[in-house]
Amino acid sequence: MKVLLVGNGGREVALARNLVRTASSSDPVELIVQAGNPGLEPLGQSLVFNPLNPDDVAVRAKGRGVDLVVVGPEAPLVAGVADAVRAEGIPVFGPSKVAAQLEASKAFAKEVMEAAGVPTARAFTCRTTEEVEAAFNAFGAPYVVKDDALAAGKGVVVTDDRNVALAHATTCLNREDGVVLVEEYLDGPEVSLFCVSDGTTVVPLVPAQDFKRVGDGNSGPNTGGMGAYTPLPWLDDSVVDEVVKTVAQPTVDEMARRGTPFVGLLYCGLAMTSKGIRVVEFNVRFGDPETQVVLERLDSSLADLLYAAATGTLAHLPAPIWSPDAVVTVVMASGGYPDTPDTGHEITGIEDAEAIDGVHVIHAGTRFEITSSAEEVALGCCGFEPDEMLVNSGGRVLDVVGRGATVEEARAKAYEGVDWISFAGEHHRKDIATWPAELDAKN
Ligand code: AMP
Ligand code: GLY
Repeated sequence: MKVLLVGNGGREVALARNLVRTASSSDPVELIVQAGNPGLEPLGQSLVFNPLNPDDVAVRAKGRGVDLVVVGPEAPLVAGVADAVRAEGIPVFGPSKVAAQLEASKAFAKEVMEAAGVPTARAFTCRTTEEVEAAFNAFGAPYVVKDDALAAGKGVVVTDDRNVALAHATTCLNREDGVVLVEEYLDGPEVSLFCVSDGTTVVPLVPAQDFKRVGDGNSGPNTGGMGAYTPLPWLDDSVVDEVVKTVAQPTVDEMARRGTPFVGLLYCGLAMTSKGIRVVEFNVRFGDPETQVVLERLDSSLADLLYAAATGTLAHLPAPIWSPDAVVTVVMASGGYPDTPDTGHEITGIEDAEAIDGVHVIHAGTRFEITSSAEEVALGCCGFEPDEMLVNSGGRVLDVVGRGATVEEARAKAYEGVDWISFAGEHHRKDIATWPAELDAKN
């Protein structure tokens, strides 16, 4: 199967790695990947294209005769990449522009959840500070304020400090067409459950947990995610079925009823509250960094699963097969992250980390920088290879992944890997995959 993968972050490296790893020997996956990630390029044929330009992606998919396009990040989906590819008659794993609003607009997601009877936090959609104040009065502390628009996981502030909450709301409202949601606070540990859908049928993957705050003990601001693990030994097995029944299936049914079927990955961000399961958020694509651990446990073909979703044939596919192993990933981030990252520093130790049995390292925000002088490059003739070094180029830089028989073993492996790697300004959490008692203390 020839697959074009759109996106070039850590999640796409995990997708690429596992598309190839799990493919059946009778139908190997031939990958075309988006250029620009030193960890992704060796996994396929790399191609330079603009992931936010639907026509560019569709033309390339057609030109290369691909069997399937898999869209990793949300921005291309919101830009309409899946619509353009589908219009060419090419199967695509990823929702249409309209269905992607489940992630792109938190207000839209709330409306769909309400129509579908899906349990979520009560919320007010606010366009003025007066409305925000009224919502604060209605719910009380802790205050939960969400930017309505896409914000890479960083648009949400949860705080007991009303002034901080109001300041965040004001910043969002001051933007053009600024809208914020003020929500009821949800207690309890969070779970990410990915559900694959072909527009009708829903197939759940295995649950994982993400660590959203930047600091140990869930302190500091929200990030895109600082680490993840699976399985969740503390979670009752019945939760997966319950989430499919009460959250994912009703949402997929509601989207179909509206004539905007959801094809792709419905990421259910859930809170296990004292009052039951509640949806914290929907995303319309694989989570980052949960994908790096979830897909590592998949023992059946990922390409077949995504192709079945893209072609409306999920009901006929056998259920995915999962390894009982545990997998943990720790994100190594740049200085400054989640604010402006301090980039351009040499990264060392990746090979040493990968030499450990059960450890691999995923590139999320790295690039090669040429270290030969401009003069050397100018004088170099055919066959000249400039010297280059690997440097950090984004907020989240590397995902160090450890695998073992238990979560404790996998965590020990991941941190053993982390210990080998360094770059100036690097920071990571020390408490990834520790038990949920600590996770309850969100503030
Ligand atoms: P979101 O972008 O909606 O997933 O929010 C990011 C993070 O903020 C979530 O993973 C939670 O940790 C936290 N959060 C969001 N909504 C709530 C809520 N209603 N109550 C408590 N925490 C929340
Ligand atoms: N890890 C959270 C997300 O992908 O949005």
